[in-house]
Amino acid sequence: MRSQLIAVIVLAALCSCSTGHGPIKTEVPPRPAGQQDMIQFAADPIPDVGIGVVGLGMRGSDAVERLSLVPGCHVAAVCDVEPDRAAASYKFLSDKGLKATAYSGDERSYEALCEDPAVDLVYICTDWLHHVPVALYAMGHGKHVAIEVPSAETLQDCWDLVNTSERTRRHCMILENCCYDFFELTALEMARQGVFGEIIHAEGAYLHNLDPFWKLYWNNWRLDFNKKHRGDLYPTHGLGPVCQALNIHRGDRFETLVSMDTAPFNGPKHEAARTGEPCTEFANGDVTTTMIRTAKGKTILVEHDVMTPRPYSRMYQLVGTEGYAGKYPVQQVCLRPEGSENVDYQNLGREKVYSGEALKELMAQYRSPILTEELETLAKEVGGHGGMDYIMDYRLIYCLNRGLPLDMDVYDLAEWCCITELSRISLENGSTPVEVPDFTRGAWNKTQGFSYAL
Ligand SMILES: NC(=O)c1ccc[n+]([C@@H]2O[C@H](COP(=O)([O-])OP(=O)(O)OC[C@H]3O[C@@H](n4cnc5c(N)ncnc54)[C@H](O)[C@@H]3O)[C@@H](O)[C@H]2O)c1
Repeated sequence: MRSQLIAVIVLAALCSCSTGHGPIKTEVPPRPAGQQDMIQFAADPIPDVGIGVVGLGMRGSDAVERLSLVPGCHVAAVCDVEPDRAAASYKFLSDKGLKATAYSGDERSYEALCEDPAVDLVYICTDWLHHVPVALYAMGHGKHVAIEVPSAETLQDCWDLVNTSERTRRHCMILENCCYDFFELTALEMARQGVFGEIIHAEGAYLHNLDPFWKLYWNNWRLDFNKKHRGDLYPTHGLGPVCQALNIHRGDRFETLVSMDTAPFNGPKHEAARTGEPCTEFANGDVTTTMIRTAKGKTILVEHDVMTPRPYSRMYQLVGTEGYAGKYPVQQVCLRPEGSENVDYQNLGREKVYSGEALKELMAQYRSPILTEELETLAKEVGGHGGMDYIMDYRLIYCLNRGLPLDMDVYDLAEWCCITELSRISLENGSTPVEVPDFTRGAWNKTQGFSYAL
C-alpha cells in the first residue's frame, strides 16, 4: 500500500514537471514572402573594396590604420559624429597620400556615407546603440556591412539585421576578431580534422577588468549600458571561436540556455566614482554565467565579468570525446594516454599533455588553411591585438574581392549576440531555461561542418 502511494506521488510530480515548466518560448517570425536564407551567400566580386568606416573612437581609428594596409581595398570615407575624430582619420589617410571623404557634424552624418557611391562596405565601430541603425541604413542603400562586437543588443535588433540582409542580399558580418587569434585558428583546424574526437562541450568568456577604461568611452556609453542592462553584454568573444568548432548552424544549433548572475557589487562603485553621487540602481551583475544546450546534446558555458580584477581571459576550451584544447591561463592540448598498464590511482592526470615546445610542434602540423606564412608575418607586424584584427580584415576583403561567402554570416551574428537579451530573460525569471530562436528558420542543417571559402 505504502509503495503504491509513493508511486502515485512520484507520477504526479513527473506529470506536473513535463506540462507546467517548459522553457520560456521566444518568437520566430515567419520569413517574409520572397526572401531566402543567406547560407553560403556570395555576392559579385569587388576587385577593390571601397570602405566607409563609421565611428572613429579607439577602435574605429585603429581600423582605418589597419585597413589602409590590407590589399584589395581602400578607405573611401570616414565618419564620426565628433568633427575632430573625423578630421584626425582624414588627416591620417591624406598624410599617406590616400583620398577619402570625411562625414561629420551630426548623429545622422553616416547616412551620406552610406549613400556615397564610392563605398561598397560600411565598417561600423560606433558605440553599441548605433550599430544597428547604421547597418540597416547601409544595407538599405546597397552596401555590405561589417559590425563591431557585440553587433546587436536585442532580439529585435538580431531579427532586423537577419531580415534586412536576406531582403537586400547584402553581407552582414560580425567583426569577431577572436575567431582569428593564432591558438583558436589552429585548435579549430585540429577540431575539423577530428584530433579531439567529437567536440561535446566548450567554454568561452569575456573576463576583462574595465576599471581603467570606463572613462575613455565616448559619452560614457559603456558604463551607462552596463548600468541599465542585466545579462551577458559581451558574449561574442567567448562564443564566436567555440561555435565554429561546434558547427553551429552548420549541422547543430543552440536550443536552450539558462543564466545566473551575481549581484552588482563593483558596478555601482564605478558609477558613484564617476558622478560623485551614490548609485542605488545598477542592473548588470558583476559576474554573469550562461549555459547553452544544443540540438545535438552539446553544452557551452559562457561567462561575462568586466568588473573584477581577474586576469584577462576568453577561457576558450574545447572538450572532445578524445581530447581537449584550452587557451587560458596556460595553452595546452590533452589527448588520451596510450595504453592502460601501470595505472597508479594516486596519479590524477594520466592524459597526454602538450604544452610549451611540445605543443608548438603538435600545433605546427595543423596550420589553419587561411593562415599563410606571409599573412602571419604581416599580421604580426601590423598588429591589432597581436595580429588577429589584421587577419580578420584581410579575410573579409579577400572574400569580397573574390565573390566568396564570408567566414561569418548574419546568422552567426544573431546567434552570438542574442545571448545578451536571452540571458536577461532567464535571469529575470529566476534562471528559467529560455529557448534560443532559430535565426536560419530551418536552414541550420543545410551545410555540415564549418569551413572557409578559399
Ligand atoms: N573586437 C574588439 O576587440 C573590440 C575592442 C574594443 C571595442 N570594440 C567595439 O568597438 C566599438 C567601438 O568601441 P570604442 O572602444 O572604439 O568606443 P569609443 O567610445 O572610443 O568610440 C565610439 C565612437 O563612435 C562615435 N559615434 C557615436 N555615435 C555615432 C554616430 N551616430 N555616427 C558616427 N559616429 C558615432 C563616437 O563619436 C566615438 O568616436 C564597440 O562596439 C566596442 O564594443 C571591439
